[in-house]
Amino acid sequence: MKRVISIGIASLFALPSLGCVNERVQDIATLEGDLTSGKVIYDGSCAGCHGKDGRGSGPVDLLEDPDGPDEEFIEIILYGEGNMPAYADQLDDQEIADVVAHIRVTLSGQ
Ligand code: HEC
Repeated sequence: MKRVISIGIASLFALPSLGCVNERVQDIATLEGDLTSGKVIYDGSCAGCHGKDGRGSGPVDLLEDPDGPDEEFIEIILYGEGNMPAYADQLDDQEIADVVAHIRVTLSGQ
């Protein structure tokens, strides 16, 4: 029973990643990220797990696939994945665009 429930919940969270990209992801992808704000958000909320340089001390190297689509990052930041927390209610659209720009531009350029 417990298993059925957790599969139900897991598929609920997996939904946005199926098929077409959802509207909020697309909206965020059209925004221009602000690098200064992105660094502040990243250092405050993300660096604890991903490391200040994006290479992470453990879980995930954010710079592994620099040419990957921003939409994929935006979706994972919004809805979480595995042990990655969801930020859909913590960050607004512009803040997510800012933090993606920080990863894609500032950290990837180092
Ligand atoms: C509690 C630790 C933790 C925090 C805080 C955290 N993350 Fe993550 N993040 C993870 C883990 C673990 C994964 C790997 C998820 C998986 O695939 O299981 C991940 C995955 C990701 C990915 C996908 C990387 C890829 O190549 O697939 C992105 C993008 C990301 N995080 C960005 C962020 C951003 C931006 C923040 C801050 C707003 C953040 N994370 C905060 C732990 C964290």
